[in-house]
Amino acid sequence: MEKEKEMIYFITGNNSKFNEIQNLFQKENLSYEIMQNTIKTTEIQASSIEEVALFKLNSVREKMTHSFFIEDAGFFVDVPLNGFPGVYSKYVLNTIGNKGILNLIKDYHDTKAHFKAVIAMYFQPINETIIFEGTVDGKVARTIRGRGGFGFDPIFIPNEFPNRTFAELTIEEKNTVSHRGKAWRKLVEFLEHVD
Ligand code: IMP
Repeated sequence: MEKEKEMIYFITGNNSKFNEIQNLFQKENLSYEIMQNTIKTTEIQASSIEEVALFKLNSVREKMTHSFFIEDAGFFVDVPLNGFPGVYSKYVLNTIGNKGILNLIKDYHDTKAHFKAVIAMYFQPINETIIFEGTVDGKVARTIRGRGGFGFDPIFIPNEFPNRTFAELTIEEKNTVSHRGKAWRKLVEFLEHVD
């Protein structure tokens, strides 16, 4: 008889993030089932993505009875903005937006940028919190391009697809190189070995 699959909840109100993870998850043959849960978490302003992710995870820990994870990401323009907006990504996207970022860097020809994702998971079978990270390097586009993705996707060109922004890639293409895809694959490796 087939063993019943265990539930792992992905706590996020961001459907695009959930779709990306779901797309990757469907390719795996794991003895787990991923479900979206939109319970409200508490977000703090801290100096690293890891700190924000851990606080977010712990803010709902008491309310959860199964394993669950949250994911936190940031967009870092390394050249010429020394990593800005980083931990302020959400605020900056909601205020000056992609147009504002392009305005800040318009006088620079060469740019460098990366995304970083941190997945923090509470894994119930061993009663522990585990962190998985992923990054993707690239540059900032000169103009806003593409209709796919979300957030900063229309202005980020990953090194692996030098002619396209994240918003011009399919979800599968983005997942093969993205920060979230890499962090996710580490989580999958963990689940495969813990089984
Ligand atoms: P969050 O706090 O993890 O949701 O992300 C911080 C900000 O970065 C939000 O404004 C997101 O829209 C943006 N962001 C997170 N992940 C991505 C991504 O994969 N592509 C583009 N923008 C992203």
